[in-house]
Amino acid sequence: PPLDVLVVGSLNADLIVRTERFPRGGETVHGDDLIVGAGGKSANQAVAASRLGSRVAMIGAVGDDAHADIVLASLDAAAVDITRVERIEDAVTGTAVITVDAAGENTIVVSAGANGRLAPASLDRHLDAFDGVRVVCLCLEAPLEVVRDAARRGRDAGARILVNLSPFEAVTDLLEPGDVLLVNEHELELLVDGPVHDWTDVVSTLATLSIRTAVVTRGARGAVVLDADGDPTVVIVPAPSVEPVDTTGAGDAFTGALAARLAAGESLSDAATYAARVGAYATLRVGTQSSYPDLSTLEGWAPEAP
Ligand code: RIB
Ligand code: NA
Repeated sequence: PPLDVLVVGSLNADLIVRTERFPRGGETVHGDDLIVGAGGKSANQAVAASRLGSRVAMIGAVGDDAHADIVLASLDAAAVDITRVERIEDAVTGTAVITVDAAGENTIVVSAGANGRLAPASLDRHLDAFDGVRVVCLCLEAPLEVVRDAARRGRDAGARILVNLSPFEAVTDLLEPGDVLLVNEHELELLVDGPVHDWTDVVSTLATLSIRTAVVTRGARGAVVLDADGDPTVVIVPAPSVEPVDTTGAGDAFTGALAARLAAGESLSDAATYAARVGAYATLRVGTQSSYPDLSTLEGWAPEAP
């Protein structure tokens, strides 16, 4: 059977150290013991969607090193099809150096490694994955030409394209009407060039960039769904209230959950409501993939109402 969700993009080993507060430039601070986790924005999205019951495959690249084993094992354990993730002999697996402070906020430096070696030719080898796929998830941790190519192939196959412009670059020409833009509030401000005062104005500004549909994640405040198809609509989606331990990868959990629900035929605002719950759950534990819920965990979770 065809896939529900195809994720084309990055896999990283996350090197995570928790610290009371972030160091300033030139400063040294103590941190807790190092945690090596499976991450990468795309791999995280794939794991989130798969744990929630979608049929998910990933196209990507890792190096020939111990970190590759860690990231592949995590995807495999989450039942993501990894047969199209290529091992590149002379490459280093992508790495993210992450600090998390006492408030659960993070800083991340990403080193692309093997992710940077993904090429349109890699997609050509795995075109079968696009046949009948419902949703294709993309972010900017993979080379832009690959992201463009994957978006085009996904559209040709009739799939819905989700584009997460992270790490941020203003490459709005990646999107075509029908695609869904996913950004956090900070990325949105970079994109529309200023602070957001009025969501209806944002819908109009995005429309001038030929972006008709967007989901803006807002951390503890949930998300906003913007749609310029027909009458402009703004749907405010609340998030359950939690005390976050580590917000790293919560956005990816949101994106993966959104992809899973869209693939199941849900409306964008219903999918976003579900995704906000998944994103909140993911902040309760350290790490990214290791903190994502499966269906039964999510169903049994009763946080305080927003
Ligand atoms: O969004 C969180 C992710 O960003 C981490 O898993 C890290 O690998 C970086 O890609
Ligand atoms: Na987490």
